[in-house]
Amino acid sequence: MGKKHEEHDGTREAQSENWAGFDVNEFQRQVISDFRANSGRMSGMFEGWTLTVLTTVGARSGLHRESVLGYLELDGKGTVVASSNGADKHPGWYHNIRKNPIVTVETGTDTYRAIAAIPQAQERDRLFDRVIAEAPGYADHQARTVREIPVVVLHRIGPRPGEDRVKGMGDWIVEVHDWLHEELRTLRDRADQVVVKGGTAAIARTPPDLARQMRTHCLNFCGALTKHHSGEDMAVFPMLAEQFPALAPALAQLGEQHKVVARLQEDIQQTVDSFVPGETDPVRMRADLERLADELESHFRYEEEAVVTALNATAAAPGFG
Ligand SMILES: [Fe+2]
Ligand SMILES: [Fe+2]
Repeated sequence: MGKKHEEHDGTREAQSENWAGFDVNEFQRQVISDFRANSGRMSGMFEGWTLTVLTTVGARSGLHRESVLGYLELDGKGTVVASSNGADKHPGWYHNIRKNPIVTVETGTDTYRAIAAIPQAQERDRLFDRVIAEAPGYADHQARTVREIPVVVLHRIGPRPGEDRVKGMGDWIVEVHDWLHEELRTLRDRADQVVVKGGTAAIARTPPDLARQMRTHCLNFCGALTKHHSGEDMAVFPMLAEQFPALAPALAQLGEQHKVVARLQEDIQQTVDSFVPGETDPVRMRADLERLADELESHFRYEEEAVVTALNATAAAPGFG
């Protein structure tokens, strides 16, 4: 007899009803306390059920909220279903993860931090089919409501106990940033040498091959940066925006920063392309590079704060999958 995974997903925040003397909150507290006392092995009315206690941060209150839910493992990842037993409204915990996807998952034998993703469209349908294959009760819940019942995938943050940490997509992005940062530093150093050593005679003392060197280096750097940003714009950011509604504002801002950086790149490219040693003042080129460096540094920092956790939890670095 397979384990039951029916959902029991009242949350303390969302459900405070008192049905004819039945205190839902008190009932939740009792179930959670039994769950913890028995390492997740339930008895009584939940005998044989596979449950989890999911702790989210209240979308409005900002307080920790505990919900008891049916728990499945699909493709090695914890999965919960926002079915609310087929009610027409999404459960409170689902609203919470849309606002803040960082959660704590208790399985009874393991407690881990996770980032909760909400797969959309075909991926949601594929997962829902897997869910009802394992726990057919969810099909009944879906039949009761016109609301499309969301499936939520709990991506563990960090390795499982005893496992090595796999290099994630977020780590890889940080490495690319570090490399771009170093390349830009080399470009600025080269421009610095001309400006500082030349002093007031910077124009006259510009090495004759500087324009060629800068052009080649600039082309390589700008090519790499453009490729990196278009990869983020086309693939990484849409993937994150779809699964993590909470990241949408930061992703929109990052996309705007890409545009600012692209305009600065164009300026630099033009300055370098039209640079004639002995005739052009290198100070302008140096100032352009400085502006680009400032803009990129704050962009990289913001991007790393906003997306590295989600990327590390959801995708392995290229070549490490
Ligand atoms: Fe980036
Ligand atoms: Fe970026």
